[in-house]
Order: sequence, then C-alpha cells, then structure tokens
Amino acid sequence: MMNYLWIPMLIALSKELAANAQSTGVPLLLPSETHFYPKVPRCPAPDPNLNFRPVIGILSHPGDGASGRLNNATNASYIAASYVKFVESAGARVIPLIYNEPSEILHEKLDLVNGVIFTGGWAKSGLYFEVVESIFKNVLKKNDAGDHFPLLAICLGFELLTMVVSKDNNILEGFSAADQASTLQFVNNVNINGTVFQRFPPVLLKKLSTECLVMQNHRYGISPEKFQKTERLCSFFKILTTSADEDDKVYVSTVQAHKYPVTAVQWHPEKNAFEWGLSGIPHSEEAVQVTQHVANFFVRRGFDEVYIFDILKNRCPKL
Ligand SMILES: *[C@@H]1O[C@H](CO)[C@@H](O)[C@H](O)[C@H]1NC(C)=O
Ligand SMILES: *[C@@H]1O[C@H](CO)[C@@H](O)[C@H](O)[C@H]1NC(C)=O
Ligand SMILES: *[C@@H]1O[C@H](CO)[C@@H](O)[C@H](O)[C@H]1NC(C)=O
Repeated sequence: MMNYLWIPMLIALSKELAANAQSTGVPLLLPSETHFYPKVPRCPAPDPNLNFRPVIGILSHPGDGASGRLNNATNASYIAASYVKFVESAGARVIPLIYNEPSEILHEKLDLVNGVIFTGGWAKSGLYFEVVESIFKNVLKKNDAGDHFPLLAICLGFELLTMVVSKDNNILEGFSAADQASTLQFVNNVNINGTVFQRFPPVLLKKLSTECLVMQNHRYGISPEKFQKTERLCSFFKILTTSADEDDKVYVSTVQAHKYPVTAVQWHPEKNAFEWGLSGIPHSEEAVQVTQHVANFFVRRGFDEVYIFDILKNRCPKL
C-alpha cells in the first residue's frame, strides 16, 4: 500500500524539482558536485626517503616456554607471543633473533632491524648470556657510530644488563616479586624527558605510583643502594623508578641509559594487554594503556631524530 502511495509522490516531486531547475537555470547537482562540502586534500604518496617500516628483533630464550610440553629438544628456543603482539601493536614487524643460530646469521639479522628486545625468562649463563652480552655491545657500537638503535630489556633482560654493565655476575639480590602487580615509585625530581615515561599522560603517570598497574614476576633484582654504590651501573644508567616486593624490600624497577637509547624494566609491559596465564597481571583500562604507551615509545624511538638524552652532571646521585 505504502509503495503505491510513494511512487506518485516521488514522480510529482521530481517533476517539481526539474521545473524549478529549468526556471532558475541552475542545474541540479549531487552533494559531491557542490562546494557544500570542503574539498578533501589529496594524500601525497609516502616520501620514499622516510622509512616508516620499523622492524624489531626479539631474542629467543632457551626452552619451549612450556616446560617441555611443546618441544623437548635441547636446542629449542621460544619467544612468548605477547612480545610479538606488543611490537606489532605499535606498528612494527618482528624478526626473531634465534639465540643459538650461527653468530654470523644473528649479526646479519641485527643489521636488518631498527631495535632489539631482550625478553623475560630464567637463563643467566652459558651461550644465552654470551649472546645477550654480544648484542648489547653491538647496540652500543651502532649508537656510537650514529645509528640510533634502541634496546628494551625486560625482566630477565634487566637482570642480564645489570650483570653485563657491572661486570659482576653475582650482583643480583633475592626478592619476592613473583606474580605480583606493583606500583612504580619515581625517584625524587627525576627528569622523565627522553625516557619511556615522556609521553605518558600526566594522569596515568600519577596513577603509576598509586595503583598497581605494572606486572612483576621475578625472584632477583637489585636494591637502589647497591645500584648507586656500583660505579659502573650508575655511570651507565639512571634510575627512574623503584618498586617494593612482597616483603616491602625495595628494588630498582626502571632504568634509562644516560647516553644511549637503552631502557631496562624489571616489570613486564607486554603482559598487561596480552597475557592471561598469571593471576597477578593487571588488565584494567589504565594497565592496558601502560602496555600501549611503552610499545609506542619503543617502536617510535628508533625513528625519533630529535631524541636528546639527558646527560646527568652528577652521575651517581644519592637517592
Ligand atoms: C617432553 O618430555 C616430558 C617428560 O618426559 C613429556 O611429558 C612430554 O610429553 C615431552 N614433550 C614432547 C613434546 O614430546
Ligand atoms: C636443533 O636440532 C635439530 C635436530 O638436530 C635441527 O634440525 C635444528 O636445526 C636445530 N636448531 C637450531 C636452532 O640449532
Ligand atoms: C625535553 O627535552 C627537549 C630536548 O632537549 C626540550 O626541547 C624540551 O623542552 C624538554 N621538555 C621538558 C618538559 O623538559
């Protein structure tokens, strides 16, 4: 019924419009043909001189990450999916750096990537340790040669860099921070310019110190006192944050190299958005934002030409 009513009405309407157009001499235009909508600028082709195709190398860790349920081979190694998702979520791709592949191949790959991640895990000796040390030295060399090449060391990565930089394989102390969410306490008057926290919104930054938005899962660490007493450590890194374990023992939780784009975190930025296997992982909206901000910072950092490091005059200040 409605259909029959509409058709004559539409015919009448279109006749009227046509007559109107004829009488005024103004042709009828479709909306896209009028200037009613502002002209949309054309998108220029990407500048071929700019490389917005970041690729990040992630070093694999011995084992299968599943206590042998997936692979028992002695030479097996793995990268937890969360690290890959973390990198990809910020618009980069991943090349796995297999820790026990021939060194020439591993270093060839290192020349193809724009930055490296050392993951969490347990291996603190043997080939894995040697490979971490050799990649770390290579990262410094690249940066010294003017290639801005960032490194993010997470959890075990933090601990290994602490050992490598201090040249002391027994420097770590015991802490009780397994499967525990924590806050981050910023060092008094610390300048976060040029650090992983630089682009955090002020509200989120504040919440980091009052709410448990980061995931800890470690039994080793280093106290701020020991860190500052160790000349090699405090002349290389500045401490940005500390956290407390289950016994309220304080450990260093975030450090930034004074002169290099090298960041080490004892916490797990990749877990909040992407891992569900431990009960302590925070998954609140703010916790997920922490994952996102760290990923964006790390992936974009390698491309940030104007990155300027804050070189402290007093390199080993008392906290
Ligand atoms: C690895 O060895 C363990 C213990 O023998 C066994 O339970 C598991 O099924 C093995 N995994 C694979 C993938 O074969
Ligand atoms: C591990 O051992 C297996 C079997 O010998 C071999 O096929 C594989 O290539 C080895 N993987 C690495 C990374 O060395
Ligand atoms: C951060 O550092 C840059 C480069 O040195 C400087 O231009 C900027 O003003 C600094 N921002 C703050 C908030 O200190």
